[in-house]
Amino acid sequence: MADIKSQDKKKHYISRKESREIAKNNSRQIRNFEKQKKRKIRPEEYITEMKDERNIVEFDDLHTFFFSDAGTVKAVNGVTFSVPAGSTVGVVGESGCGKSVTSLSLMQLVQAPSGQIVSGSIRFRADMFKLDSHGNKIPVYETEVDENGNDILDENGNKQFKLDSRGKKIIKKNELGGNMYEMETQVVDIAKMPTEAMRMIRGREISMIFQEPMTSLNPVFTIGNQLDEVGRLHIEGISKEKVKERSIEMLKLVGIADPEGVYKKFPHQLSGGMRQRVMIAIALLCNPKLIVADEPTTALDVTIQAQILDLLREIKGKINGSIMLITHDLGVVAEMADYVVVMYAGKVIEMGTAEDIFDRPLHPYTIGLQKSKPTVDQVADELYCIPGFVPNPINMPNYCYFRDRCEMCTEKCAGEYPGYVQVTPTHKVACYLYKEGAKEENNG
Ligand SMILES: Nc1ncnc2c1ncn2[C@@H]1O[C@H](COP(=O)(O)OP(=O)(O)OP(=O)(O)O)[C@@H](O)[C@H]1O
Ligand code: SF4
Ligand SMILES: [Mg+2]
Repeated sequence: MADIKSQDKKKHYISRKESREIAKNNSRQIRNFEKQKKRKIRPEEYITEMKDERNIVEFDDLHTFFFSDAGTVKAVNGVTFSVPAGSTVGVVGESGCGKSVTSLSLMQLVQAPSGQIVSGSIRFRADMFKLDSHGNKIPVYETEVDENGNDILDENGNKQFKLDSRGKKIIKKNELGGNMYEMETQVVDIAKMPTEAMRMIRGREISMIFQEPMTSLNPVFTIGNQLDEVGRLHIEGISKEKVKERSIEMLKLVGIADPEGVYKKFPHQLSGGMRQRVMIAIALLCNPKLIVADEPTTALDVTIQAQILDLLREIKGKINGSIMLITHDLGVVAEMADYVVVMYAGKVIEMGTAEDIFDRPLHPYTIGLQKSKPTVDQVADELYCIPGFVPNPINMPNYCYFRDRCEMCTEKCAGEYPGYVQVTPTHKVACYLYKEGAKEENNG
């Protein structure tokens, strides 16, 4: 009896010795990662190329771990998928499967020092500022032009710049009212990029809509203050009047009826749906190419949810951008996404077009998810529930992570974690039941 008790204890508790070892290992690993981040990273180390030119983001074997007191949490454990430009990609999976950590890795917002991108790449096609030999941005100046809009040249063939009252060249303004700088399109690896360079991308090129607008908005500042702050931070050289104009324009764009009135209000004076609209307005302020929406409708009721989804769809068309939509709600994905990525325990287990995933789900987990979705045309006493639990992210098994819950498991599944099988050109699955180009006949 005593023996069983002590064995149980062993299972559930970490001994003092183990705890010391974990702490020692954590501090060593964290020190190494932080040291890497602090050193001067040259552009050659993070400028790269896309595997497929049609994509705007490519996650490639991304590993993001948390070094916790209980051990290493492999929150994202080898994630590979891409977001084609102009499309909406839905990322689905149950709670804790690593959806948010994947998106936080893309924004370089993983909670450091315990959270670290350990390996892999996140390639992103970005419009970056061109820098001179001193590392400064290169402004575009206003020039004297003739009535046809052509530059007037002096006798040496040089452009003539407009000067302000102090005799200084005037920087041209861009479409947002900020200073115009010379730009170049570069593919960067966000996983290896220094924090300062990432600041040029975050908010300007990629913006994020968080799950809970009440906690994301600051309760002591007006909506106007919060919108203006983002504008001032990311649109360099914008005037006070222009920034307010832009904020109100964005509130109008997200369907707020009295934008001037809402501009002066505090978050607590708005409903949940209105607050989420404000969050979307903040995200759109700098014309991002990619919007990451992490459970944007989870805190809202169904009618408001439908309105927010309509709004996101409408806006995507207007800004000509892409959306990475994270949710555990299959209904939301079915309505919005062109492509679907299904995650389970830190890995992508299936991906394909929305039709592939909804009409022909292959992985037993995806099939289970579909079965557990309530439908109006079916009468059932009880809703289907996938049996069992997600494995502990600290001690992942060395076989298929879904095996202990799988109702379609075969003897082959005893092997190591299954690799990807390209079932059709658009549809990929990590499961032993399938082989390249087709399903195995006996599993029909
Ligand atoms: N700061 C942290 N420290 C330790 N572990 C963390 C931390 N943040 C996330 N994790 C762990 O990483 C794993 C993935 O978490 P993540 O937040 O990405 O899940 P999710 O798929 O977004 O879930 P949900 O649908 O509930 O939002 C979970 O096991 C979680 O406990
Ligand atoms: S590999 Fe086997 S255990 Fe894993 S999901 Fe497929 S059938 Fe189930
Ligand atoms: Mg999440």
